[in-house]
Amino acid sequence: MSVGRRRIKLLGVLMMANFFIYLIVEVSKSTTQEDRGKEVIIPKSKFWQKHVPAKAYWNREQEKLNNLYNPILSILANTTVEENLISNASVLNSCEPDLSVISSVKDFENLPDRFKDFLLYLRCRNYSLLIDQLDKCKQKPFLLLAIKSLTSHFDRRQAIRESWGKETNFGNQTVVRVFLLGQTPPEDHFPDLSDMLKFESEKHQDILLWNYRDTFFNLTLKEVLFLKWVSTSCPDVQFVFKGDDDVFVNTNQILNYLNSISKDKAKDLFIGDVIKDAGPHREKKLKYYIPESVYEGAYPPYAGGGGFLYSGSLALRLNKISEQVLLYPIDDVYTGMCLQKLGLAPEKHRGFRTFDIEEKNRKNICSYTDLMLVHSRKPQEMISIWSQLQNLHVNC
Ligand SMILES: *[C@@H]1O[C@H](CO)[C@@H](O)[C@H](O)[C@H]1NC(C)=O
Ligand SMILES: *[C@@H]1O[C@H](CO)[C@@H](O)[C@H](O)[C@H]1NC(C)=O
Ligand SMILES: *[C@@H]1O[C@H](CO)[C@@H](O)[C@H](O)[C@H]1NC(C)=O
Ligand SMILES: *[C@@H]1O[C@H](CO)[C@@H](O)[C@H](O)[C@H]1NC(C)=O
Ligand SMILES: *[C@@H]1O[C@H](CO)[C@@H](O)[C@H](O)[C@H]1NC(C)=O
Repeated sequence: MSVGRRRIKLLGVLMMANFFIYLIVEVSKSTTQEDRGKEVIIPKSKFWQKHVPAKAYWNREQEKLNNLYNPILSILANTTVEENLISNASVLNSCEPDLSVISSVKDFENLPDRFKDFLLYLRCRNYSLLIDQLDKCKQKPFLLLAIKSLTSHFDRRQAIRESWGKETNFGNQTVVRVFLLGQTPPEDHFPDLSDMLKFESEKHQDILLWNYRDTFFNLTLKEVLFLKWVSTSCPDVQFVFKGDDDVFVNTNQILNYLNSISKDKAKDLFIGDVIKDAGPHREKKLKYYIPESVYEGAYPPYAGGGGFLYSGSLALRLNKISEQVLLYPIDDVYTGMCLQKLGLAPEKHRGFRTFDIEEKNRKNICSYTDLMLVHSRKPQEMISIWSQLQNLHVNC
């Protein structure tokens, strides 16, 4: 045999040997796998987590609602649909005080009055409009500015009308404005401003007034009632800005932005100053304090209530889904919860400055040209910034 042939033969033998080794390894591997089969297939912890009922009142009641709208969850929680129906969690217009909360909320008697009030009337959201603007959306607006205000804030509303909240129609893109108000009743020792409000409404046709007490914890009612109003009276609006009456909004910049985004992006648009990984404040003195007995767990991402911008189509979806989310005392968190239920999250846009801009830049008009929103500004400042932006001769 030649050296070459001998080499090939050797190579062949080596390959055969290799193959056998491979076989032995594989066979032994599979037998050991069979031996330990059960351990490999079944994970150490259960795939389905055991259902642990929530302790806090809001979470428990929301769970009932979730079960009601999602029978699969109901099976996991081992509750029947009937149980969830009986629980009254589904009732959205039971306006008698719900006395069951007195025993259902652990420390009810010791809660601050605003919580007692909130919990007693949690099931009621069918308040009616005392002042409506039926023709507001006749022209199918491009942008609806919806501004949360209080009856007594006449000067803020007027400043907004004269500045960033002007109703306009550039290039057939109609911008319209409404102010969202509840009542400030004499029982709460508010002065009676109803005649002045009536005059204002007739003059400017931009007031929406509902018959509920306008308090901080009722701002969520303002949100759901507004979403319902959009669905019934303004369903064709393309975009909605909703914000406070102490912010400055660069409406032109918002219009530029809305004209620059794709149809795809516009459909689910929801932008603002987004807060992530937040949870309830447990410090009793804070405005945003929430007791452990009322809510547990983290908050979903949400856009600060100072102002955010979203699509009209999303407003309609938010209105529908809000029926499945129990009112929560903090309105912007509530909107975040509704978005989460829709499988969406608000997007952070750096043009929304709800914590203001640096002090040294506040007097420089060039700081405002690229912004969408700044919080907070007084009526006089709103008018001043707006007029400077209109007559901008400097190059920024
Ligand atoms: C489900 O609830 C029923 C009665 O309410 C009870 O008999 C049953 O043991 C529960 N099943 C589980 C898996 O917890
Ligand atoms: C549900 O509401 C009805 C009347 O509104 C009341 O009679 C009933 O006791 C309530 N059920 C529960 C579980 O709270
Ligand atoms: C809401 O609806 C309920 C049931 O239809 C009714 O009893 C109640 O008076 C309504 N509440 C308001 C504020 O309109
Ligand atoms: C605005 O709309 C009217 C009628 O629909 C049309 O005639 C006009 O050309 C439009 N103007 C612009 C700037 O698009
Ligand atoms: C919200 O408004 C309703 C209706 O006016 C009132 O009964 C309730 O006390 C208010 N809730 C809070 C927390 O102020």
